[in-house]
Amino acid sequence: EIYNRGLNFERPVLTFQADKWEELACSRMSSEAKGYVYGSAGTRETTDKNRAAFKKWSIVPRRLVKTETFPDLSTEVLGEKLQFPIAMAPVGVLKIFNPAGEIAATQAAAKEAVPYIFSSAAAATIEDVAEANGKDGQRWYQLYWPSREHDDITISLLNRAKKAGYTMLFVTLDTYILGWRPSDMDNGYNPFMRSDRIGVESGLTDPVFRKQFKERHGVEVEEKMDTAAPEWMRTIFPGMSKGWEDIKFLQEHWGGPIVLKGIQTVADARKAVEVGVQGIVVSNHGGRQQDGGNSSLGMLPHIKDAVGDKLSIFFDSGVGSGADIAKAMALGADCVLIGRPYVYGLALGGEQGVAHVLKSLMGELELTLHLSGIPSVSKKDLNRSVLVREDD
Ligand code: FNR
Repeated sequence: EIYNRGLNFERPVLTFQADKWEELACSRMSSEAKGYVYGSAGTRETTDKNRAAFKKWSIVPRRLVKTETFPDLSTEVLGEKLQFPIAMAPVGVLKIFNPAGEIAATQAAAKEAVPYIFSSAAAATIEDVAEANGKDGQRWYQLYWPSREHDDITISLLNRAKKAGYTMLFVTLDTYILGWRPSDMDNGYNPFMRSDRIGVESGLTDPVFRKQFKERHGVEVEEKMDTAAPEWMRTIFPGMSKGWEDIKFLQEHWGGPIVLKGIQTVADARKAVEVGVQGIVVSNHGGRQQDGGNSSLGMLPHIKDAVGDKLSIFFDSGVGSGADIAKAMALGADCVLIGRPYVYGLALGGEQGVAHVLKSLMGELELTLHLSGIPSVSKKDLNRSVLVREDD
């Protein structure tokens, strides 16, 4: 569909050149928004390695592979059928890229049949995003996990998410404090402390937090925003205050599949199996947290070999094209999360821009598989046998 539309010379809402989205979006954004999305930890070493790692692998095409149809992109992850093997990564504060923010992004997700992961740092509430995502939308909830002294707030967030139809819980483990992000610091910018409080909207509406705030300060959150915003921020970014044994608490209060986001080592992947969660996201947060780190893709095959048959493996960090998605899946991912590219789509074209990015990535994935003689994204067809490693 996408390819044929291109051939009809209809004007797309946005270029199909995936490697141009970043540059184009950055040239049109405010320096604060650009610094936040493009900016990375430290000197961008981890971010650059994430991208470079994909180039070390090449897809080798097979010929005369007889298939009746185009490649089958559908898959099943943790009991859910997915039309495509991707989901939208949780990204906070989307309103700074477009006033329609999370609502536009989640509507595009529903329209394109791609699961949407709601960020704990969203600039919209759990319930409003669920409503915009609709009854047919697939939505998952990402938690920035408050310290154990705030278990009641965590329970409140989980209950709200469950009630609003979010089916999987993604627990982000690499962001118990925000990374060293020079571009944000140069801009004097903290997305969660803006004067319009955009980045804390989802938190400040939580009834348990609001009740406790009133008990502490004697006024409503809205009457003392300068205090409420940093208090919420300290609540969801409490420092490294938990261990593996604390996962049990989430299992007791969620009751659905739990996926640990931010796993980068075989040892931690094994721990995830040991504590009995259903999935992991092999991710380094797009290089936004720890600098001087490894590429996320580089760790994927090792983690797949160690635990691949024991839990579902999601992957993100550095994915920028349909071919990248194929490579990540060949190296072991069951589902690939798209981060920055859809944010650029949102900045450039709102809901349509996000839809364009998703469609474009899926169109390219489909043709890449077709041209490589790979009939489906299932592991029997798309696995390490389709890749060669280029010399360093
Ligand atoms: C993120 N990411 C993120 N992750 C998360 O668990 N909760 C969050 O609130 C956010 N917020 C966020 C904001 C912005 C602007 C970006 C770019 C990223 C990380 C995200 O889920 C994902 O791990 C990375 O974006 C993947 O890397 P790429 O695809 O951007 O290279």
